[in-house]
Amino acid sequence: MAKPIYVLNGPNLNLLGSREPEVYGKETLEDLRARCEKKAASLGLKVEFRQSNHEGELVAWIQEARTDAAGLIVNAGALTHTSIAMLDALLACTIPAVEVHLSNIFAREPFRHHSYLSRAVKGVICGLGPQGYEFAIEALASAIQKDRPA
Ligand code: DQA
Repeated sequence: MAKPIYVLNGPNLNLLGSREPEVYGKETLEDLRARCEKKAASLGLKVEFRQSNHEGELVAWIQEARTDAAGLIVNAGALTHTSIAMLDALLACTIPAVEVHLSNIFAREPFRHHSYLSRAVKGVICGLGPQGYEFAIEALASAIQKDRPA
């Protein structure tokens, strides 16, 4: 059985759809899950889609992804701007990873401009809303393909 792409969502992303819709849009987390599953299926892949409000749980999931995932998408929410623990977990992870943000963090408050995670990932997608997750799945699909022995 091929390994899935882990899609890990951090604090407050469970409130998508009702949380500051002018910033994060109207799609719920379940809508986003369905969107990711559909995109992955169109590329012959599966996603393991999760959300947690707890840093330790997210760290544990990144550690799990080292062995159980083919690739990783992470939207760490506010932990993006604070979590050295998540950075260290990502640095220990050799599978391709993409950081995603629904909003354009660079067009927002200065404290959102720095991400602790970006140095540990292949690429960063931000400001494109839920479609950003689909682009990340596409990018990982090519990266996984490239890493696969012929
Ligand atoms: C976010 C941006 C973060 O700054 C914020 O704390 C979030 C969501 C985004 O997807 O745009 O919770 O990661």
